Amino acid sequence: MKTLVTYSSRTGNTRLVAQAVHEAMPEGGLLVPVEDAPDPKGFDFVAVGFWVDKGMPDAKAQAYMQRLSGRIVGVFGTLGAYPDSQHARDCLAKTLELLRGSTVVASFLCQGKVDPKLVEAMSRMPGNAHPMTPERKARLEEAAKHPDATDLANARSVFAQALARLHGN
Ligand SMILES: Cc1cc2nc3c(=O)[nH]c(=O)nc-3n(C[C@H](O)[C@H](O)[C@H](O)COP(=O)(O)O)c2cc1C
Repeated sequence: MKTLVTYSSRTGNTRLVAQAVHEAMPEGGLLVPVEDAPDPKGFDFVAVGFWVDKGMPDAKAQAYMQRLSGRIVGVFGTLGAYPDSQHARDCLAKTLELLRGSTVVASFLCQGKVDPKLVEAMSRMPGNAHPMTPERKARLEEAAKHPDATDLANARSVFAQALARLHGN
């Protein structure tokens, strides 16, 4: 089975998850940043990873998703929000909508530390829509610990199980 794991990552969180997903693939599977990703047509399974930008997969990952029509696909992503939040569920729903032409057999989201420069820039925006409430502070502090070893093990497990199902095990 020919597999491709490709990912978009600005600050490294999604790259870590991509490495874990790659570990769940059969020997010889390809792992490449989305900028270098080959034509997905040559692969039996493609896992595509993104970071969440304004509630959506980032633009580079989205562009690659558009090339995945007709393929068997898994998705993974990292975000600042809690993975069991409505925000995360909405983001996954929008991702699946982008991939409606593909057969999606695995999905995984976890938190990823938010670039402190972004947090700082947001706090200086006029009419700041993201004031530093205690809830937001707690969420950012939790995000700063992710992806952690448990996230990476969970990502490996989700994709290993999806591949086992594809093989009919
Ligand atoms: C410009 C920008 C926009 C973001 N928008 C969101 C968002 O809408 N929702 C969210 O939960 N996290 C958001 N984040 C947080 C990132 O998705 C999160 O930190 C992610 O783990 C970054 O992944 P990376 O290290 O692979 O680049 C945003 C981060 C940046 C830099």
